[in-house]
Amino acid sequence: MNEPLRIGIAGLGTVGASVARILKNKSNSLSHKCGRPIVVTGVSARSRNKDRGFDMTGIEWFDTPTELAASANIDVFVELVGGENGAALESMHAAIEAGRHVVTANKALLARHGVELALRAEEKGLILNYEAAVAGGIPIIKTMRESLAANEPSRVYGILNGTANYILTRMEHDRMSFADCLAEAQRLGYAEADPTFDIEGYDTAHKLAILTSIAFGTQVAADEIYIEGISNISLSDIEAARELGYRIKLLGVAQRTATGIEQRVHPTMVPLGSMIGQVDSVTNAVGIEADTVGSLLLSGPGAGGDATASAVIGDIADIAKSLPGHQEAPVFGRPATELEPYRRAEISSHAGGYFIRLTVHDRIGVFASLAGRMAENSISLASIVQHGAVKGGESETKTVVLVTHETTESEIRAALEAVTGDGHLVSRPQVIRIEPAG
Ligand code: NAP
Ligand code: HSE
Repeated sequence: MNEPLRIGIAGLGTVGASVARILKNKSNSLSHKCGRPIVVTGVSARSRNKDRGFDMTGIEWFDTPTELAASANIDVFVELVGGENGAALESMHAAIEAGRHVVTANKALLARHGVELALRAEEKGLILNYEAAVAGGIPIIKTMRESLAANEPSRVYGILNGTANYILTRMEHDRMSFADCLAEAQRLGYAEADPTFDIEGYDTAHKLAILTSIAFGTQVAADEIYIEGISNISLSDIEAARELGYRIKLLGVAQRTATGIEQRVHPTMVPLGSMIGQVDSVTNAVGIEADTVGSLLLSGPGAGGDATASAVIGDIADIAKSLPGHQEAPVFGRPATELEPYRRAEISSHAGGYFIRLTVHDRIGVFASLAGRMAENSISLASIVQHGAVKGGESETKTVVLVTHETTESEIRAALEAVTGDGHLVSRPQVIRIEPAG
């Protein structure tokens, strides 16, 4: 039997503990598949005495991830601490400088520092694998980086956050409150340490930035993404969407346009009957439209200890099977030195359909005035529906739901500014973009 591959795991939380446990429980089959044993030789976390659910006998403890990363007793450093800076970043740099291959699930860190880490890893001929960083258990990085080499993608989109999809699904199916759904997602180990990342769209944006870089060969540009989260989405929106034949999903979308690459994350209306409209709970889905293959949609569990560990261990197994001296796939699909600068297409030029829910004073002429403002801005309406009057304060209010044909973001914004100026609105308009997702 060949020499064992020695693994150091930093972070023994939801993902790290699953990785260590599965590596131990499946050591025989992994050793057969990889042609050599894979052995955890070192670990690090914050508290030494916590029960992690696996036997730590014979595994060396390190007080910091950075000490573990520099240990001569590991070949691969697995970063499962989290956070875009701090211990995670310091230890990844230390591992690369010490000549260790690196595996991580940390999308926040890659979205911010991915290119600098890729440059250094590639310079030193080391592998930096991160399958678990995007869409949990779905093998999307390998698919895009290797299997789709013959393609120039034009659009990549998806449900990239399990927590947000779990919340939207349980709100719709079980009529649970937003707060209760989030608490349940946290209990199940889906949410980030700071769940604002999940519900405000930042986690989706981190993942989208990574996919954009691989798809379009550009530098990772997480700060250039237009982001809206789901904390504003109410049960009324979900019900109004359903009535009109849509579901609301938090999507990340990147597409090539005439002016640059559009990257956006926002709640989105997708047709009820579409494949992506059927992706529920913690399940993620990633769609790719490309010249050679056409359209693909991959779906699977997007978060959770074991599903994520599956991707991490796949990355470790690839390192175990790699041949010394053999040129590995570059971190972002092409050498980091050749990634092009990102050119942003502004959200104001986004073209598509829109769902608009307005709460208006129930006065004569409001309906006509709304329709007039839309027409003035060249917006063609696919439907306009009003719901019953509600007595509140001095006057009655009504809900009006408009669905537009394709228009642009700037026309929608101009029309809504005019509607607001007319004084008919009781509260801010709710605007949700419609996506012709597959
Ligand atoms: P977690 O449950 O919060 O675990 C974090 C681990 O890191 C804990 O063991 C913690 O130690 C340790 N840690 C934190 N700060 C440390 C420090 N300064 N020094 C040493 N150890 C430290 O997080 P997780 O859910 O496993 O996520 C880990 C990474 O995977 C994150 O980057 C996350 O975004 C990513 N990810 C998670 C999922 C998921 O479904 N959970 C899916 C895909 C990717 P203690 O246990 O002692 O506190
Ligand atoms: N918090 C993330 C999610 C974990 O819910 O999708 C997986 O990246």
